[in-house]
Amino acid sequence: MGIDLSAAVLAFAQRAAKGCERVRFVQADAQVFPFEPASFDAAFSRFGVMFFADPTAAFINIRRSLRPNGRLAFVCWRALEENPLDILPLRAASAHLPPQPAHDPDAPGPFAFANPDRVRGILERAGFGRSRSLPVTSRLEAATSIRCWRFVRGSELWARFFGKIPSSGPRRCRQCDPRLRHTMDLMGSG
Ligand SMILES: C[S@@+](CC[C@H](N)C(=O)[O-])C[C@H]1O[C@@H](n2cnc3c(N)ncnc32)[C@H](O)[C@@H]1O
Repeated sequence: MGIDLSAAVLAFAQRAAKGCERVRFVQADAQVFPFEPASFDAAFSRFGVMFFADPTAAFINIRRSLRPNGRLAFVCWRALEENPLDILPLRAASAHLPPQPAHDPDAPGPFAFANPDRVRGILERAGFGRSRSLPVTSRLEAATSIRCWRFVRGSELWARFFGKIPSSGPRRCRQCDPRLRHTMDLMGSG
């Protein structure tokens, strides 16, 4: 079973799972969805669990859906500062913005699970036994620098910061920070 709030993400997953007859998809909130108790061997999330408003409650709900000795695995982003794709545009934007309120590192969002100790505490409170985290460093490749721009522009972080700059556009923002341009050009090949 695949679960997500977004119809677009589910449609993509459905296409990817074509031919897998036993897979079904549900558009719902995994924090509160009434999963059948003790019905799954494992739960996995790719970059989804950091958005839970109440992560402990959400993981309690997910744990109940697992059989005894069931396993949970997920991938989440490390800290904002360790992700050039996000931090470089933000640094470039900040030169054009009034001082921003301090960011709460634990607030739901892409980087809410950057602290492994916090995540371990959440999982313990949710009733999971032993847990371990593994740092993974991977290079993200976009086919072209234009595609890379489209990706950055579609992100929540872009909307939050660059959206406040009335005349922001790829050309202007690429010019405003040479490191940003360099990163985009490294990630895209054209
Ligand atoms: C960064 S996207 C990752 C999407 C997909 N897993 C992937 O790897 O391409 C985060 C996803 O988490 C989903 N999400 C956030 N909170 C959720 C919740 N409470 N229940 C179900 N899905 C949630 C969003 O709808 C979004 O599709």
